[in-house]
Amino acid sequence: MRHDLAQCLAGNDPLLIEVLEYALFGGGKRIRPLLAILSARICGCDDDAIYRLAAAFEYLHVATLIHDDVIDHAATRRGREAVGAKYGMAAAILAGDWLHARSMYLIGHLAGPEGLEVFCSATTAMVDGEFLQLRHVANPSVSSQQYFDVIERKTGRLISSTCEIGAIFAGATPGQREALRTYGARIGAAFQVIDDLLDYLGDQEATGKKTGNDFIEGKLTLPLIHTLGAASATDRSTISDCILGDRDDAAAYATICSMMEQYDGYATARKTAEELVAGGIGALDIFRDGCQEIYGLLRTLALYILSRNS
Ligand code: IPE
Ligand code: IPE
Ligand code: MG
Ligand code: MG
Repeated sequence: MRHDLAQCLAGNDPLLIEVLEYALFGGGKRIRPLLAILSARICGCDDDAIYRLAAAFEYLHVATLIHDDVIDHAATRRGREAVGAKYGMAAAILAGDWLHARSMYLIGHLAGPEGLEVFCSATTAMVDGEFLQLRHVANPSVSSQQYFDVIERKTGRLISSTCEIGAIFAGATPGQREALRTYGARIGAAFQVIDDLLDYLGDQEATGKKTGNDFIEGKLTLPLIHTLGAASATDRSTISDCILGDRDDAAAYATICSMMEQYDGYATARKTAEELVAGGIGALDIFRDGCQEIYGLLRTLALYILSRNS
């Protein structure tokens, strides 16, 4: 990433450079680049250009985080001020656009038209997912199917395209490509389910994001959707009142949290994430007899999604 930036940012506006530095080197987990590298490696690729390709996924991911924090009114990311909060909205929009453009360039250059097609289809799906999410804001009758439609688009597609493009870059067989796409889609959905659990249960020191923001924003996520489905009519109506009322009110937040405990909303969501991860690992079966080491790393990465606290 450093190498790519040094190449293409020379002579650019110093503020642009500063904002990009701030956004890209602020302690992210770098899961997507790692997935791109492992996906290419498991298909037999040992070309070092994979590192540049991998950077493209971090660029796009960071672009979406910068814009996501504007959309979600989030002031904190990775344990410090979000880009929009620190540098203002104009800088946030523009830096996101720059990262977007650079990621497209790298994918087109390194993974060709086939890779670019997968990448652009994932990117457009992410935007669609964000619109869909806005449509469901503060709707107590949102279904778990509608929730999965959102997370598959906003999170699953980028992660699955990362794995699939790693395979394309490696010259994989259609079967290998399909396996990695499915693995990415499943663990990507699990990743968002866990993110949504951490929004309630996480330690903000570890996640680097403000706890409870999803509820304030009116985002109904899996633990709450399960709880609404399981609750008695009276409790359902209490929860609906909290969702439709003042969501900044600490008492409303405490009420929905205790309902989620009572009706096993957290535990049920976690179980769903576990099933998704198991399905993702299962999709890698065709690689089991091949490169054991990379297979093991992809498996460990999938399991890490369940145990992560940041
Ligand atoms: C956060 O992704 C956004 C989601 C899709 C939930 P990460 O948790 O991978 O963010 P960083 O890059 O590690 O900060
Ligand atoms: C995922 O949704 C964000 C993107 C697709 C960029 P969230 O809004 O839950 O992500 P966080 O919690 O802000 O990281
Ligand atoms: Mg957000
Ligand atoms: Mg979140």
